Amino acid sequence: MTTSTSAQIGVTGLAVMGRNLARNFARNGYTVALHNRTAARTHALVEEFGEEGIFVPAETAKEFVEALERPRRLVVMVKAGEPTDAVIQEFAPLLEPGDMIIDGGNAHFADTRRRERELREQGIHFVGAGISGGEEGALHGPSIMPGGPSESYDSLGPMLERISAKAADGAPCVTHIGPDGAGHFVKMVHNGIEYADMQLIGEAYQLLRDVGGFTPAEIADIFRTWNTGRLDSYLIEITAEVLSHVDAATGRPFVDVVVDRAEQKGTGRWTVQIALDLGVPVSGIAEAVFARSLSGHAALRDASRELAGPTPTPLGREEAAAFADRVEQALYASKIVSYTQGFHEIAAGSEEYGWDIDLGAVASIWRGGCIIRAAFLDRIRAAYDARPDLPSLLSDATFAEEIAAAQDDWREVLVSATRKGVPTPGFAAALAYYDALRAPRLPAALTQGQRDFFGAHTYRRVDREGSFHTLWGGDRGEVEA
Ligand code: 6PG
Repeated sequence: MTTSTSAQIGVTGLAVMGRNLARNFARNGYTVALHNRTAARTHALVEEFGEEGIFVPAETAKEFVEALERPRRLVVMVKAGEPTDAVIQEFAPLLEPGDMIIDGGNAHFADTRRRERELREQGIHFVGAGISGGEEGALHGPSIMPGGPSESYDSLGPMLERISAKAADGAPCVTHIGPDGAGHFVKMVHNGIEYADMQLIGEAYQLLRDVGGFTPAEIADIFRTWNTGRLDSYLIEITAEVLSHVDAATGRPFVDVVVDRAEQKGTGRWTVQIALDLGVPVSGIAEAVFARSLSGHAALRDASRELAGPTPTPLGREEAAAFADRVEQALYASKIVSYTQGFHEIAAGSEEYGWDIDLGAVASIWRGGCIIRAAFLDRIRAAYDARPDLPSLLSDATFAEEIAAAQDDWREVLVSATRKGVPTPGFAAALAYYDALRAPRLPAALTQGQRDFFGAHTYRRVDREGSFHTLWGGDRGEVEA
């Protein structure tokens, strides 16, 4: 149905995400103004889904802005980067102080900070909102991570709460994350964790296949079983679906007919780049990004196929079943580590930019709608709710106990992987992080000694305050720097 009633919200950019989000608002009773660079898409939406709610199609930017009630709420769903700036330049001159532009794309948080600053000068509220859940989520309820000024959330929040996914306890999967770029920062880390989760699942699959000797269909069943326990999550669920799918053209497992080069649009890479700037060790996420890159180096891989290594010989059936249980432990322990690293990055970003992000609330809104939704997030929420200043998820007693119980199997799995020559960079990085954190002494002391030797970079001592330098080229006496 279409009408000229003023719309409570407008969506510009009607590719699949924008279209589904607009339909979601309409299905929830909001009058939605629609706009797209090519008007054909706008009309197609109304033609196909007009019965779902009240849409106000607009052909021009001016018509679109005029269709919106004040303060205007204008959702931009275009490709992140220049297209977002182009849309802002087109609409900002038509808006008034108090109006809101909501960017629902996967923008880089630094761009969001810049846009928010520029628009603030005009009195326009810019809300960078991370939206997760893919096409289905946009339509049926995504997890939404809005940043921007808190006063915009007063008016926008209830609408987002209405269209968002709901967690098992009914809580809406949206919260005001923090000022300016906080929402897009959290979405970026969400995607980094998504990469890590996918890599760890991939490693578990490869181990079950090459060491366990299971077929893809059998591995799908193993994942289905895991999905009934503590690993219960959307990514484990869809992994079982992908693994049990058979290619119609060849009759082979689908996973065997897909080229094994993983692509990426960049949000996982940003997570690592920013972590490097913030000095946060997100080794699990980094290994996931590197694993995708490595998979894509076809020539390098072709040139390396003859390199020496063991040929994995699969285990017997009984041993394989026990091995699968160990892989579950390794996967779970590694997953705890990647979330630990991801939440550390959010805490560090929050500190750096003064966002005051509530980590428990972030875990809470990831419980539904988003790609990394998982039963496990409820426990992360509980850990941060019980202790908002938790230094690390690994300091939570429950997680620490679970890792303690998993660690023997985790180590065994890595021994098997190493012996059999199956690459498991995610599992290994996670265990190295865990062991490094628990180590009473790290070789960093030696690094400091080397730095002082070749560059007089100085070091601190365990027994005295101050900075020191040893006269390495002289009598090796020590001087205070
Ligand atoms: C989501 C997804 C979504 C998208 C990723 C995939 O939360 O809904 O994360 O944002 O699927 O951008 O990224 P890659 O193409 O980099 O794997």
